[in-house]
Order: sequence, then structure tokens, then C-alpha cells
Amino acid sequence: MAEIFRISGGNPLSGTVRISGSKNATVALIPAAILAYDGTVTIGGVPSISDVGFLADLLKELGVMVVQKADTLIIDPTHMKNAPLEHESVTKLRASYYFMGALLGKYGEVRMKMPGGCYLGPRPIDLHLKGFEALGASVDYQQGSYHISAKKLTGTNIYLDISSVGATINIMMAAVYAEGKTTINNAAKEPEIIDVATLLNKMGANIRGAGTDVITIEGVTRMYGCYHEIIPDRIEAGTFLIIAAAAASELTVENIIPLHLEALISKLKEMNVDMDVAVDQVTIRKSNGLKPVDVQTLPYPGFATDLQQLLTVLLTQANGQSRIRETIYAERFKHCVELQRMGADIVLGQGQAIINGPTVLYGDRVSATDLRCGASLVVAGLIAQGETLISKIHHIDRGYDNLDGKLQALGAKIVREDFPDAEG
Ligand code: EPU
Repeated sequence: MAEIFRISGGNPLSGTVRISGSKNATVALIPAAILAYDGTVTIGGVPSISDVGFLADLLKELGVMVVQKADTLIIDPTHMKNAPLEHESVTKLRASYYFMGALLGKYGEVRMKMPGGCYLGPRPIDLHLKGFEALGASVDYQQGSYHISAKKLTGTNIYLDISSVGATINIMMAAVYAEGKTTINNAAKEPEIIDVATLLNKMGANIRGAGTDVITIEGVTRMYGCYHEIIPDRIEAGTFLIIAAAAASELTVENIIPLHLEALISKLKEMNVDMDVAVDQVTIRKSNGLKPVDVQTLPYPGFATDLQQLLTVLLTQANGQSRIRETIYAERFKHCVELQRMGADIVLGQGQAIINGPTVLYGDRVSATDLRCGASLVVAGLIAQGETLISKIHHIDRGYDNLDGKLQALGAKIVREDFPDAEG
């Protein structure tokens, strides 16, 4: 027995939806909190997603006290111990790798299983490990587990061959207690990196330049508890903007930082989507005559790879041929195969998809092969004729806070039910 979404398409949505805290910030902020020696780290605006539960399992393995009250997480690392992370939750999400940087930074040693996460093609962590080595650590990988240790961590100059989000955050965490100054060149600039640096600085770290491509970290000797409110999730916000453009008569998306979504907003404008952008909300009205566009995914502030899968669905409704080039994860096109089953005219090539629109989508049985694929199938189900059944929705629950509930409140016919035949 596994849960599925059953969606009856074709109901115009309307109303207001509020965006939750950023998943990709949350999954880094939680491991970052263990760097405190004194006091509790309280994180507000925590989204209700299963990734938070997996990380809480790992905190418990480490003897960290964790209490959740509504959307607030209170993390008390005062009596933690540096235990090996062998719990199966390590393999449930990619972000478990942030415990590498945090534990190495705090104790000079970490033992943990290989992290998991969505399959989007190869996702190496060589840049994280090279960064740890540059700080003075040695890395040993045997039988599916890492042992990373350092007698002493010393600040140094690091150049990232690729501006990796994960490597930038992991190196920042490993370097907060290192002796002297660490410089990360070609650092990633995603808003989630600024959020993590902000938390670490509130805890007593000395990090400058987050949000630019040069980040410096001056080592400190002690860090403390604090309160931090997570930034809104720009990918959830983008998901609802795309839902609005595809399926709403009028929909307002609130608790949103439009600056974080500039690449998507300008593409939607280019597509002729009727929208008003305010300080912290965007309203989209039913738009006729959607135009096709070419999109290339890039590191922030470029067009987010996480939104590429969602935009694909909207492009099936545009009048003409669109092209998506995926430069971050060449194999991130599993959603296209599912959309083809629903009637989409998509031609897949090496690292790209050509979408010919407009096409009518028809409800079918489809599978959420990864998180954003799942969300894109929800959008497709909302505009499809007939009924769509989406299996493997545990992938969606990893990263969206109450997606079905939020959609129901906007008038969508989406229900979650147990389904005997659904694959886990
Ligand atoms: N890369 C390497 N070596 C490394 C690290 C990365 O070659 O050591 C490559 C990757 O293979 C990829 C590129 O560098 O081609 C960028 O990867 P990055 O490290 O930036 O990605 P990530 O940190 O693993 C985060 C998000 C992803 C999002 C990417 C890109 C989290 C937990 N995950 O992954 O989010 O797609 O950045 O923006 O923050 C999602 O939310 O659905 C999701 C997959």
C-alpha cells in the first residue's frame, strides 16, 4: 500500500497561497545548528516536509535534543556526541552530506554513509571532499561509508571548479572553527547560501561575502545558540507561479521574494503571462496566447534547474516550439517521459527538450520519479482532461509543505489516497 495523488483536471484555481520556508535552506540550517557549543538554536518558518524528519533522525543519532512546535524547531546540541551516522535516513536525502562539514568543523572527524537524494544523473561530491582536504582533512571511503578526519583544520584558499551549492555550504561549515582565514573562490551565490551564512554569523561565525562568488571565513573559537527565521522557498513560490499561469483564473502567491525569482518572472513575462509583481507577493491572472520561449538552466541568478521541470508543463500550452537546455543535470528529463504519456509533444535530445505546443494533456497513471518531476506532474494533472493518478508521491512530500492541501484551498480537485497497486 502506498499513497498516490488522484487529480481531476480542468478546475480553474483562484485565491491566495502562502509560501513556506525554503527547503534547501532548511536542510542546511539544521546541520549548521550543531556547530553551537552553548545554548539552543531556534529556527522559525520550518516547512512541514519529510526531509526535516529525516534530518531530525540524524540529530537524535548524535544525541542532539530536538523539539518541534508548529513551524519552529528548537535544536539543543549541548550534550551531543560525534557518533557515526549509519541511520538509513542518511540515504533518504542528499543534504545529509551537510553533517560532513558540520561534524568535521566541530570535532575534526566524521563517519557517515554515502548520502542519497533524487536521482538526476551523476551527482558527485568531489568538490566538497577536495575542500575538506584543502583545510587539512584526509578522506577515506570504504564499503559505502566515509571517514573524514583532521588533526587540525587550517584556513586556506579554495577554488571551486563548479560553483556548487552543496560544496560552498559544506566548506563554509567545515571552516568556521578552522585556524585563520578561508577563502572560497567561484562560490555559489544562491539565496540559501546567504541564509546559512546569516545563521552561522548569528551563532558567532565570521563569514563575509555570501551571495557573491568570493566568500571569506575567519575562524572563531566558540559559537552559540540564536534565533533564525528561514527565507521563503523560491522553488515552491516558482511552482505556484507556474501553477497560476497554467491553471488559475486569478491567484496571488504571498510570502515571496521576487528578486529570488527574477529569471522565472522574466520568462513568464516573455511568455505573455499577465502578472502584477509587488514587494512580497505576485498575482497572476488567466493569460491567453502563451508564447513559446527558450530557456537555459544556470546557477543562480540564472534560471533554476529545479524549476525547469515545472516550466516544461506550461510550455506544452504555449503556441509554438520552445526549447529547454539543462546545463546543471543533463539527465533531469524523466518528467518528460511521463508528460509524453499524457499527450505532450516533447522531443528529447542530449541535455535538452524541444516542446511543441499547444497540446491537450490527458489524465493517465504517471510516476513521480523525483521531487520536481512529481510537482510537474501535479501541474499537468491540474490542466489535463480527465483523471491523473500520480504514484511515488513520497518524493513530493520530501520537499513540498502540504502541496495537496494548499491546492485544495485554491479549488483544485486533488486527493491523497492509499492505492494497493502503486509502486512505493
Ligand atoms: N557537482 C560536482 N561535484 C561536486 C558537487 C557538484 O561535479 O562535488 C556538480 C553537480 O553534479 C551539478 C553541479 O555541480 O552538475 C551543481 O550541483 P550543486 O552542488 O550546486 O547541487 P546540490 O548542492 O547537490 C542543490 C539543491 C538541488 C538543486 C541544485 C542546483 C539542495 C539540498 N539541493 O543541490 O535541489 O537542484 O543545488 O541548484 O540544496 C531540488 O530541490 O529538487 C534539488 C535537487
